[in-house]
Amino acid sequence: MISRFPFFKENSNVVYLDSAATTQRVDVALGAEMDFYTKMNANVHRGLYPMAEEATEKYEAVREIVRVFLNAPSSDEVVFTRGTTESLNLVAQGYGGMILQEGDEILLTIMEHHSNLVPWQMVVKQTGAKLRFVDLDEEFKCNDQTKIVAVTGLSNTLGQRVDLKKVVAEARRVGAIVVLDAAQMAAHLPIDVQKLGVDFVAFSSHKMYGPTGAGVLWGRRELLEKTEPIMGGGDMIREVYLDHSTWNDVPYKFESGTPNIAQVLGMGAAIEFLREVGFDKIQAHDEKLMKYLKERLSELDFVKIFGDEHVGILSFIMDDIHNHDVAAILGEKGICVRAGHHCTMPLMQKMGIPGTTRVSFGIYNTEKDVDDLMTFLKEVANKFAR
Ligand code: ALA
Repeated sequence: MISRFPFFKENSNVVYLDSAATTQRVDVALGAEMDFYTKMNANVHRGLYPMAEEATEKYEAVREIVRVFLNAPSSDEVVFTRGTTESLNLVAQGYGGMILQEGDEILLTIMEHHSNLVPWQMVVKQTGAKLRFVDLDEEFKCNDQTKIVAVTGLSNTLGQRVDLKKVVAEARRVGAIVVLDAAQMAAHLPIDVQKLGVDFVAFSSHKMYGPTGAGVLWGRRELLEKTEPIMGGGDMIREVYLDHSTWNDVPYKFESGTPNIAQVLGMGAAIEFLREVGFDKIQAHDEKLMKYLKERLSELDFVKIFGDEHVGILSFIMDDIHNHDVAAILGEKGICVRAGHHCTMPLMQKMGIPGTTRVSFGIYNTEKDVDDLMTFLKEVANKFAR
């Protein structure tokens, strides 16, 4: 598998355990970007010459790739964005900003990434709606005020899943919609929007072996119709007058300006690669590595692991050693992990710690990577005279 990732040819000494932050890119994604720039570099939705038409066709074909990946009813419901953050801001502002009123409630979990928290805080300021949070061990309960439930499918800090079946059933009970932050899920767990019954899904290409600068917002058509664009400009309009404009159809009304064409093509190639590998294999690989990591970490009695479910992601602290020191020393040895609050400061506040050291796996990781991590974790401990 590692041979499919050119990064490792250039960096054979790197042990990359930070795929939750960003994955390495698969060869076909890099190839798709390069092909676009070298073989058909032209803007999409504009030129009438053959090369521009080919670029447009290839770009539009990625909507169908995403539709199949999500088992969505229609590729028109696939909006291209720059990534999960933009997708979630679009739902929060464009949909939440339209429908929320004073007293309405948005329900989130305590472990949301800042990208699925701050945009909702901004909407609350504008609309007078309020936020409520479900704690880690608390039952997920909506009330009559709950209009939007916005949850991660897989915590970027803990690796813990949210029981989406339960969340959707509870939201349906009160007529609320469910926004799924699938940034971490997308590379680890299958997403079938019809089976899950969610209403919006956001994810990023760069966390699923594709390029940075591309992502998706999928939404039910009737909700996308009600969603206002949050960025104006070229391509998102139907007609423009001096004093007003009318919008293009869904999904184009959300895609103003020249899009990240090469990156979207790369994302399409990465998604096809993931589908070829298959989520059965991906999940089995994640489980095997996580089991091994936990076994090896249990050799160290001064390590505390957070959470009890770890899908590809695990956070820990080492007694009396700051997580930044752990990560910096590991980094000097070529072991790449993330340290800090992982853009989940409220979760850290809840857990009463400033941050953790986080290990996250990609499809290219092996048990040897865990062994290397352990060798140097023991060195870290020795350095701090344990
Ligand atoms: N959201 C990314 C992470 O968890 C950046 O590291």
